[in-house]
Amino acid sequence: MKKSIGAKTIVYPTPVFLVGTYDRSGKPNVMTAAWGGICCSEPPCVAVSLRKATHSYGNIMGNRAFTINIASEEHVREADYFGIVSGKKKDKLSVVGFTPVKSGMVNAPYIEECPLVLECKVIHILEIGLHTQFVGEIMDVKADEDVLGENGFPLINKVKPFLFAPETRAYFGIGNFLGKAFSIGSEIGK
Ligand SMILES: Cc1cc2nc3c(=O)[nH]c(=O)nc-3n(C[C@H](O)[C@H](O)[C@H](O)COP(=O)(O)O)c2cc1C
Repeated sequence: MKKSIGAKTIVYPTPVFLVGTYDRSGKPNVMTAAWGGICCSEPPCVAVSLRKATHSYGNIMGNRAFTINIASEEHVREADYFGIVSGKKKDKLSVVGFTPVKSGMVNAPYIEECPLVLECKVIHILEIGLHTQFVGEIMDVKADEDVLGENGFPLINKVKPFLFAPETRAYFGIGNFLGKAFSIGSEIGK
């Protein structure tokens, strides 16, 4: 029998997105966001939900653009720092020693040290409550060559992203390969 634990923001997995933006003066900033994910295939879109209190919120409203940077396990400390300090107070990228690079497609910076980055143009803004959801159309995806597989797409075990577990507030790496999607289920019921 299941026990009710109330209406909470618990779902697995939640990503650790590093959201890259420029402020009004053109200074790059990055914040950590776990409330997000892919939300449309065509046009390709990703959504991220930010509180108005963040520096990044104003930056996105100003530029209608952001990047999603996927960090590798080796940068879990930096990712956490980006989520506990505000760009209103610190130049976080300089403190950490990460390199902001102007995106080719949108007015937002991506982080050179992250192996996988998405360049996004805001196409919808949804006021939900504490958080405002920004839907970004993915204008381009850039990846380090050494994380690409033979088919030219990134391999998760080379990118080595990590996940956030809400409520317990912990980071975890990815687990083991379990099977091929759209495939291992196909024998059931035959
Ligand atoms: C793991 C983690 C996930 C977070 N997810 C979100 C989120 O989805 N939305 C949000 O508004 N803040 C989130 N935060 C908090 C912001 O990252 C934090 O307020 C940050 O300082 C905002 O930076 P900024 O003011 O430079 O934009 C998260 C923090 C951590 C550590």
